[in-house]
Amino acid sequence: MMREPGIPDHLTPLKMACPQRLDGRWRSDQHDDGYRGGGNARQEVETVFHRACQVDELFQNHISVVAELGFGAGLSILETIQRFRQVASPHARLCLISLEQFPIDPNVLKEMLMHDGAAPDLVSALIDQWPIHVGGWHRLSFLEGRVHLTLGLGDAADLLPTMNFKADAWFLDGFSPAKNPDLWTPKVLKMVTDRSASGARLGTWCSAGDVRRTLTELGWAVERVPGHATKRHRLEARRSGTTPNRPSPGKIHIGGAGFAGAGAARAFAERGWSVTVFDTKGPATGASGNPRSLVQPRLAKGLDAASHLHLHAALFAARQMDQLGVPTRDGALHLKVGHHGAKVEAALGHAGMPDALIRAVDEDEASILAGFRVGSGAWFASARSVSGPEYVAALLDHDNIEVRPDETMMTRLEETPVVWCTGSNAVDALGLSGLHRIRGQLEFLTPIAGLNHAICFGHYLLPGEKTLVLGASYDHGDSDPEVREDTAQMSLELARAALPGVSMHRTGGRTSFRLASRDRLPLLGPDPQGRFWCSLAHGSRGASTGPFLGAFLADCMEGVPGVLPSVYVDRLRVGRFKS
Ligand SMILES: Cc1cc2nc3c(=O)[nH]c(=O)nc-3n(C[C@H](O)[C@H](O)[C@H](O)COP(=O)(O)OP(=O)(O)OC[C@H]3O[C@@H](n4cnc5c(N)ncnc54)[C@H](O)[C@@H]3O)c2cc1C
Ligand SMILES: C[S@@+](CC[C@H](N)C(=O)[O-])C[C@H]1O[C@@H](n2cnc3c(N)ncnc32)[C@H](O)[C@@H]1O
Repeated sequence: MMREPGIPDHLTPLKMACPQRLDGRWRSDQHDDGYRGGGNARQEVETVFHRACQVDELFQNHISVVAELGFGAGLSILETIQRFRQVASPHARLCLISLEQFPIDPNVLKEMLMHDGAAPDLVSALIDQWPIHVGGWHRLSFLEGRVHLTLGLGDAADLLPTMNFKADAWFLDGFSPAKNPDLWTPKVLKMVTDRSASGARLGTWCSAGDVRRTLTELGWAVERVPGHATKRHRLEARRSGTTPNRPSPGKIHIGGAGFAGAGAARAFAERGWSVTVFDTKGPATGASGNPRSLVQPRLAKGLDAASHLHLHAALFAARQMDQLGVPTRDGALHLKVGHHGAKVEAALGHAGMPDALIRAVDEDEASILAGFRVGSGAWFASARSVSGPEYVAALLDHDNIEVRPDETMMTRLEETPVVWCTGSNAVDALGLSGLHRIRGQLEFLTPIAGLNHAICFGHYLLPGEKTLVLGASYDHGDSDPEVREDTAQMSLELARAALPGVSMHRTGGRTSFRLASRDRLPLLGPDPQGRFWCSLAHGSRGASTGPFLGAFLADCMEGVPGVLPSVYVDRLRVGRFKS
C-alpha cells in the first residue's frame, strides 16, 4: 500500500508484547530483556531520569517538554507526572512524548504499574484512556489537561521523523543495545538530538561506549556517572545553551461555537488561555447543531493524509467525550448494501486490525446489533453517536471560556489573536479560495423498537434518547435552507431499500450546510497574510476533526508536540488553493 510521506502507517497491525515475570522481573518476549533494571523501580526512574534531567528545576518553567524512547509499561512517564504534580507551580504545564513499538495489554500494564508502586489515580487515568493499538500518535491527558502525553505507537525510527519538536529532557529507555541495537543507532540518536532544545538534558541507564561516543559526536556533553542498583554506570548528557522560555498563554478570540470553535476554545482554555467565543446565533446553531452526529474512523481508504487524520480524530473525540462525560451511543454497524458494501469490504480488507476498531459480523450478530433482521457487515466498536449541542456545551463548559452569544465576529485587525471557526458562514468575508458549501438535510423519525446503535448503509440511522435521525443528504450546488419534501423522500427510499420491512415514520427534519475544501481536507492555521487563524472546512467529519484540530492548532501555536504529525501543518495550510 502506498504510504504518503510524513504520515505514519495506521493500518498495519502492531505486534503486542506479552511481558512475563521471571525471577521477580518483568521481561519482554519481544527482546528477551527486562523492563526494569535491578532494585526499586521508582528509585531507578528518579535516579536515571529525574536526577539526570534535573526535572525539579525544569518544572518551574511555564511549559516543559519531556520525551522518552520506550514507553513500556509507562512507569517512567507516570512517575514524571507524579513528580510534576509535587513540584511544579499550579499554572505550569507538562508535555510528554513517548514512543512504543510493542504495546502491552492494558490489564497487564495495570498489574505491572501497581506492582511497581505507581500512583493509583494516575494508573487509572492511563488505563481509562489507553488507546486502541493502531499506529500513529495518540493524545492522552492527565491532571485536568495540565499534562499531555503524546504517545507514538510504532517503531521509533519510523515515527520520530514524522514529528518536529524540541524536548527539554530525553529519557533513553529502550532495551539494551546488545538486545535491541536498532534503537541506539547513530541515526536514531541523531533524530533525538535534532529534537532537543538548547540546554536539553538526557538520561539513560545505558553506559555503552558506542552510545557515549555517538552522543559526544552529536554535540552532547556526556558524563559517565555511578549507576542504579546492579548497574555500575549510567550516562547523563547536556546540550549547550539555556532551556528556551516558551510563550505564556494570553487572550484569544474565537469566532463560531460549533465543533470547530468549541473544540479550539477547549484546547486553549485547558492550556491556560483566556478564551472569548463569539457566535452570531449562539452555540451549536450551524451544522454542529444536528441532534445526532456520528464520530467514526474512515477505513476504506489507504495510507493517505485524510484516512490517517480521520482515524486519529475519531479516536481523540471518543476519548474526549468520555472524559467530559458527554452521553454517547457506542458503536456503528455498517451493512454490506449497495455502493456502501464495497466500502465495507475494503475496510474489512485491512487484515489484523484490532477488534476494538473494526470486525466482521455475520447476519446473526449484525441482526442482534441492529435490533431487527439485517445482512452481514462490519462493526465499528470505537464509533460514537452524540448530540452535537451536548458535545459543544461540554466543550465550552470551562472556567477560562466566556461565550458571547449574539455577537458577530468581524474581519478587523486586533492585537488579540483571532481564530475563525465560522463553518459555512462568513467564508466570503475571509476571501479564501477552494471552498464550497454542501447542503445537508436530516430527517427525524419516530423511534424504531430495538434499534439502539448507529446503522450505516450509505446514509445512516442514529438513535438518540428522544430522536431517531436519518441522514444525510449531500446536495452540491444547492443553497436552499428550507427542509424539503423531495430530499426527505429520497432519504426514506434509500433507507427502505437498505432495511426492507422496517417501518419508518417521519416527523420533521433539519437543514444545514457543510463547508468542504477542494482536496477534502480542512483548513487550519494562519491565513496567508497572517491576519488571523482558521479552523474551517470540516466537511462531513467536523464532529471529530473540529475538536481534534482545535488541539492541533493550540499545539502548533505553543510549539509543543502536536496531536498530528508535522506534515499536516502544510497539508492543512490555509492558503493552499489558488483561486
Ligand atoms: C446534514 C449533515 C449531517 C452531518 N453529519 C455528520 C456526522 O454524522 N458526523 C460528523 O462528524 N459530521 C457531520 N456533518 C458535518 C459536521 O456537522 C460539520 O463538519 C461541523 O458541524 C462543522 O462544524 P463547524 O464548527 O466548522 O461549523 P458550524 O457548526 O456550522 O458552526 C459555525 C458557527 O459559526 C457561527 N458564525 C458564523 N459566522 C459568524 C460570525 N461572523 N461571527 C460569529 N459567529 C459566526 C454560526 O452561527 C455557527 O454557530 C454533517 C453535516 C450536515 C450538514
Ligand atoms: C526498558 S523498556 C521501557 C520501560 C518503560 N520506560 C517503563 O517505564 O515501563 C523498553 C521499551 O522500548 C520498546 N522498544 C524497543 N524498540 C523500540 C523501537 N524501535 N521503537 C519504539 N519502542 C521500542 C520496547 O518494546 C519496550 O517496551
